Amino acid sequence: MASALFFTCLTCSMFLLTIPCYVANQKVTLSLYYDSLSTSCATFIVKNLAKIFDDDLITILNLRLVPWGDAYANKSNNSTTFCQHRPDGCKLNSLEACAIDVMHDVNKHFALIYCIEFLAIEGRHKDWETCFSSLGLPKKPTLDCYNSSNATKLEKNYGNETMHLNPPLKFVPWLVLNDQPIGNDYENFAGYVCKAYKGNIVPMACQSVHLKQKTE
Ligand SMILES: *[C@@H]1O[C@H](CO)[C@@H](O)[C@H](O)[C@H]1NC(C)=O
Ligand SMILES: *[C@@H]1O[C@H](CO)[C@@H](O)[C@H](O)[C@H]1NC(C)=O
Ligand SMILES: *[C@@H]1O[C@H](CO)[C@@H](O)[C@H](O)[C@H]1NC(C)=O
Ligand SMILES: *[C@@H]1O[C@H](CO)[C@@H](O)[C@H](O)[C@H]1NC(C)=O
Ligand SMILES: *[C@@H]1O[C@H](CO)[C@@H](O)[C@H](O)[C@H]1NC(C)=O
Repeated sequence: MASALFFTCLTCSMFLLTIPCYVANQKVTLSLYYDSLSTSCATFIVKNLAKIFDDDLITILNLRLVPWGDAYANKSNNSTTFCQHRPDGCKLNSLEACAIDVMHDVNKHFALIYCIEFLAIEGRHKDWETCFSSLGLPKKPTLDCYNSSNATKLEKNYGNETMHLNPPLKFVPWLVLNDQPIGNDYENFAGYVCKAYKGNIVPMACQSVHLKQKTE
């Protein structure tokens, strides 16, 4: 038993150097549907979601970011018109979609998105290009995507996915955990993630969440 576990860990660690092997196949999928220039989304990303990279919650998460300009426009809302009224927002959503597409590593694309959303909170989203240099990330691949038809394609797909959510999106930020929306309690998503996680070895982040719930 013990040696089998050891062998699994060894095999696993050869492929996933940074991720503890015990969680590799038991990850919880968390999708964030958001609009890059919505204050509540920017605040959620910077103040709440970023914490998963400070503790070890990211190790049990498959985090999907779904930036879409019309995230809070409903179906009767003409998205072309909507985007025309908020060109900055639509641009930044495409840019973030491209960053995700080009930099598959969640640590990298989240760092960039965090930086842009941080600037957005301060009303300095127009300075987004500085995020690449301050993080030491290459700008060209993301901008090449952004200036190509790929950006439109990515946003169309994100828009279609967001529109077809079942149960449907009601507001942003909208969090979906393994196909179930978290709804109003989104700021406490960590507790839901820990509850949904079925792995044997509990990450530290979940131990403190459980503790907190017990002592409160
Ligand atoms: C489109 O959605 C926005 C944001 O919810 C809203 O302010 C606007 O009134 C909507 N327009 C129409 C035509 O429904
Ligand atoms: C949305 O608005 C644009 C610009 O006014 C228009 O060209 C387009 O036909 C509209 N689309 C829908 C589905 O109403
Ligand atoms: C556009 O997408 C295709 C297919 O995913 C990819 O091969 C190509 O490199 C992308 N181009 C840019 C400029 O990102
Ligand atoms: C791509 O778009 C950005 C932002 O609009 C611009 O600064 C850059 O020069 C463009 N790059 C190319 C190759 O067109
Ligand atoms: C839109 O999303 C639905 C549900 O996820 C999917 O079945 C459909 O193929 C998508 N349509 C396009 C054009 O991508």
